[in-house]
Amino acid sequence: MPPPDHRRWAAAGFATRAIHAGQEPDPGTGAVIVPVYQTSTFAQREVGVHAGWDYARGGNPTRDALEAAIAALEGGTHGFAFASGLAAGDTLLRTLAPGDHVLLANDVYGGTYRQFKRVHEPWGLAFDPVDLSDLDAVAAAWRATTRMVWIETPTNPLMSIFDIAALSDVAHKRGAMVTVDNTFASPYLQQPLSLGADVVVHSTTKYLGGHSDVVGGALVTSDGALAERLGFLQNAIGGVPGPWDTFLVLRGLKTLAARMRVHCENARVVAGRLVAHPAVVEVLYPGLATHPGHEVAAGQMRDFGGMVSFRLGDEQAALKACARFQVFTLAESLGGVESLVEHPGRMTHQSVAGSLLEVPGDLIRLSVGIEDPADLLADLDQALG
Ligand SMILES: Cc1ncc(COP(=O)(O)O)c(C=O)c1O
Repeated sequence: MPPPDHRRWAAAGFATRAIHAGQEPDPGTGAVIVPVYQTSTFAQREVGVHAGWDYARGGNPTRDALEAAIAALEGGTHGFAFASGLAAGDTLLRTLAPGDHVLLANDVYGGTYRQFKRVHEPWGLAFDPVDLSDLDAVAAAWRATTRMVWIETPTNPLMSIFDIAALSDVAHKRGAMVTVDNTFASPYLQQPLSLGADVVVHSTTKYLGGHSDVVGGALVTSDGALAERLGFLQNAIGGVPGPWDTFLVLRGLKTLAARMRVHCENARVVAGRLVAHPAVVEVLYPGLATHPGHEVAAGQMRDFGGMVSFRLGDEQAALKACARFQVFTLAESLGGVESLVEHPGRMTHQSVAGSLLEVPGDLIRLSVGIEDPADLLADLDQALG
């Protein structure tokens, strides 16, 4: 069985690639859907002679299909699937060496910051959180040892926007690589490699999986040397997903375009209601013309995404409102078909409390799902009183 070749679909539109790239009907059985190869090992005809797979940490046909599909959606040549978004990031950072320095967006996902601070810094990697929208601040923080700029845009949970093309230009002139965490946007809305980034990281747990039923991660690059190193590290470290999890993400990908269109529409409606609500003191959503990153977002994203954060001016008010939602479920995570609400300060971003990245206590984050917008608005109204 030949490994999936997604280049056949390179000229197709996004939604077509999401359904077909890397996912040809099974040549042996005709199965239209890539099967779940629930096996840890593969028979060899003679020593070293096999159908392309030997041991499933190194590769599995279901995982290969997912990797080819994600690469095709990001416009990259090589995809790698992992057991979680953080496992993907960890493996990528192992391409650096102790003594290297990373400039990190000053509003990344709390778990990313925690990994830098408590795993990679003790191991010898230096890093500085910087406001990446300020190129003077980037220049001031640059060191002779800076090897990577780690962008997240839009950021979790403050919805900051960073200019991927401008930052890639600066980083490449100085000999550093650019990583973009594309989890919030998904490749449907934003394709960082086409804007100059070297590698994309995903929590596939979110929009790519899309149904809150799997934890996973991915890396995509078009840099052959980096891909070779990542392939080695993926197998050598072993933070890989099992076949069922890769199957679930692959199934989620097929509807990514359709889901993202509704997420974006619903988020726009929700943000509009929040802006008009007297209890809300600030709405953080890049689709608003008043958002400081609006123009950059409009230039590098197809639409503004399904995430909306807002502030109520008071932490107790935010905690009480979170508990009142009925259609939005109070839960961590994001990017699934169902709407979720959470309090970042006490939930997803507890790990950055007391750090430079601490988030305001009056902040509420919404992952706007694909339910009927009238039901979402009614829930918002009753929860905010
Ligand atoms: C932007 C972003 N990146 C990375 C991660 C980590 O992903 P995972 O939970 O799949 O390890 C998350 C999780 O919330 C996230 O929101």
